Amino acid sequence: MDRYAVIGNPVAHSKSPLIHAAFAAQTGQAMQYETVLAPLDGFVAAVEAFRSTGGRGLNVTVPFKLEAHALATRRSPRAEAAGAVNTLAFDGDTLFGDNTDGAGLVRDLEHNLDCPLAGRRVLLLGAGGASRGAVVPLLGAGPRSLFIANRSADKADALVEHFRACAGACLLEGGGFPALAGRAFDVIINATSASLGNAVPDLPAGLYADGALAYDMMYGQGDTPFMRVARERGASRLADGLGMLVEQAAESFFVWRGIRPDTGPVLQSLRQRS
Ligand code: ATR
Repeated sequence: MDRYAVIGNPVAHSKSPLIHAAFAAQTGQAMQYETVLAPLDGFVAAVEAFRSTGGRGLNVTVPFKLEAHALATRRSPRAEAAGAVNTLAFDGDTLFGDNTDGAGLVRDLEHNLDCPLAGRRVLLLGAGGASRGAVVPLLGAGPRSLFIANRSADKADALVEHFRACAGACLLEGGGFPALAGRAFDVIINATSASLGNAVPDLPAGLYADGALAYDMMYGQGDTPFMRVARERGASRLADGLGMLVEQAAESFFVWRGIRPDTGPVLQSLRQRS
């Protein structure tokens, strides 16, 4: 049976085995999906051990996405743009590296949440790895504008310069949180790691336009701190990142198996569990 796994540290909490088992059952694919806990200084050895014992592919999670990018011998354009790899596929001597996170985000927004991005004003909070991976897929959805805001303004500015050539007709801007004062957005996406410390980005008031969606890439039980604050600040719609998790998994499944699973029932059953 073809073997796959999610590799990370920590990894025991991962929902990926559940998600991929559901996809495999739904599509009739004979495959097994495990977790691999790699030592913090032992990512490459753990990948090689998995591959040499017949592993076909890996999902890569915190903190190894940059190492996976470096390890890949061939990379997709979206992995190059993200500078990080969350999906490895093994084919002979080739280690193919892809990044499905941004595509998962856009698919969740547009398909699951019925929030088309074309013509919209989008605010992306954060300028770390999660944010960087989202920029090109977001631009591909044709928003009117994309503002990348970060606590340290220089990192947001650097990201904007890095992706300037990909912006096309989209107005691409960046800056610190105070630069957002007086602006309004239709979609505000939290790609900061603030929630890990139970914090929320310190944003000016009045950012949510009528009907705006607040989207947190994080998820947990119930609303995240970002979602709670967004509701108080006037966001009309709220979403956490569980749908993104399922959609990026579906995209990885497609990379490996060439089949696109139906994510709806899987997302629904995960929601019922949490
Ligand atoms: P990830 O890979 O999850 O994106 P990262 O690369 O370490 O993690 O980036 C973390 C991001 O969260 C950064 O944009 C960081 O802002 P700074 O660059 O100013 O550090 C942001 N972040 C973390 N904690 C935050 C907080 N409490 N408020 C606002 N932004 C925060």
